[in-house]
Amino acid sequence: MAVNDTHPQQTIALLACGRHAARVWDRAATGRRSAHDRAHDRAHDQDCPHCQSVAADQRLLAAAITALAEETLEPPPSLVGQVMSAVLAELRPAQYLPLPTQRGQARIDRVAAARVLRHAVDQSRSSATTMVAGRHQRRRPPWRNGRCLGMATVAVNLTRPEEELGGIPAQLRAAGLKVRCGSGRRSTPVAEVIESLRGCAAAIAGQEPYSAEVFDACPELRLVVRFGVGFDTVDVGAATERGVLVANTPGTTDGGVADHTIGLMIDLAHGISRHDRAMRRGQWQGQRGVDVWQATLGIVGLGRIGRAVARRARGFKMRVIAHEPYPVMEFVQEHQIELMSLDDVLRQSDFVTLHLPAMPETERVIDAAKLALMKPTAFLVNAGRGNLVDEDALYSAVKSGEIGGAGIDTWTTEPMTDPRWAELDNVVLSPHSAANTQGVWTASAALAVQIVLQVLRGERPAQLLNPEVWDRQRQA
Ligand SMILES: NC(=O)c1ccc[n+]([C@@H]2O[C@H](COP(=O)([O-])OP(=O)(O)OC[C@H]3O[C@@H](n4cnc5c(N)ncnc54)[C@H](O)[C@@H]3O)[C@@H](O)[C@H]2O)c1
Repeated sequence: MAVNDTHPQQTIALLACGRHAARVWDRAATGRRSAHDRAHDRAHDQDCPHCQSVAADQRLLAAAITALAEETLEPPPSLVGQVMSAVLAELRPAQYLPLPTQRGQARIDRVAAARVLRHAVDQSRSSATTMVAGRHQRRRPPWRNGRCLGMATVAVNLTRPEEELGGIPAQLRAAGLKVRCGSGRRSTPVAEVIESLRGCAAAIAGQEPYSAEVFDACPELRLVVRFGVGFDTVDVGAATERGVLVANTPGTTDGGVADHTIGLMIDLAHGISRHDRAMRRGQWQGQRGVDVWQATLGIVGLGRIGRAVARRARGFKMRVIAHEPYPVMEFVQEHQIELMSLDDVLRQSDFVTLHLPAMPETERVIDAAKLALMKPTAFLVNAGRGNLVDEDALYSAVKSGEIGGAGIDTWTTEPMTDPRWAELDNVVLSPHSAANTQGVWTASAALAVQIVLQVLRGERPAQLLNPEVWDRQRQA
């Protein structure tokens, strides 16, 4: 049923509660009965899940109306106010309450009711029609010709309190935008992500998930800018289907991650952390290390970060070998990098470092069989993504001495709390901190803000991961 064709009362019901409530409302408002209703009247089954679902929707709608009537919601923004006026003008809540249910009068869940109402308001905002005092009125869409005309709200969902977000909130506010800082915890549940994004036109995203469920619940969201490079937490396919632009901030993390990678290699080779731990225990045990200087470095994924590692490695006069499906040949030649298969990289390297993206095809690209190809003295460094490696197989390989050791910055589950790793002396562990430097933050923040402002101004940013959404919107 098109929203435009319906009576305002029905529209509210439709928006608030979906098709079951619309059917119920339709029946209440017009006396019309559907074939389904008639069939139910003839042979009614008390346990029918459809009826229970209708009853649940009725209860929520009733609760929404009651909550409005009693003004239990916090002072509403203007559109909520308009809907509220429409509801109160058009409806007499007492006429509809208490609504009969299949199982007697149910307890009203006011929080759920408020959520339903907010959803209704969000929906009505994103539709072309809204209700004002019982009549349809065309509302001015906030976006026209790809530009945001109104004051947009931008969610900044990074793993930091606002005072630690550097210039991001200030820059957005200076551009006339509203800012909402979410908790952005690494393990933020989907419901919290949805709550933090309600009404937002754009989000600067941290590690929290952006799934189909999130996009469906937040129809105003037009843009997600993933702070950093890896975008495995964003379902780009689902975003593309729903017309949400996705971008990241490539090129801003290279230096930080490359420095960290070299740091892990030197630490493993010289046993710096191991010696540090021993000295803190009062022990003086200089174990002999190995050389990074002139050793062979195998880079898996010679993209931006891989190339930044290669540049540094050449400064250590390392032989650099790499596995990369789309090499930049000019760079390869300039830095005398030898390209080869993954297996050959693993067989020949003294250090192997992973800089490829997390995708279904790269999941556990390093498993027990691949680890078995490495030299017993070789070290594996993973500052790419945790799920590139079979973590259990790596633990066994390191513990048994099948390989020399491992430097691990990225983990299958973050935060990593598995106590097994702390027992090993030939590993260096870091908490996904390779890119957490001042320089990386400043550069990533500046680029993320720039992308948000560009999109809101109707300009196409170069960092879009789904440019087809942009093209589609321009063709429409
Ligand atoms: N530890 C951190 O804090 C941190 C920070 C930023 C990025 N990262 C990770 O680093 C990864 C690389 O970042 P980038 O900026 O260099 O990305 P990039 O896209 O420039 O480079 C990735 C490279 O991997 C290559 N590749 C893809 N599949 C491959 C495969 N099966 N085998 C070998 N190579 C393959 C690609 O062709 C590309 O050249 C990111 O995807 C992210 O997961 C980690």
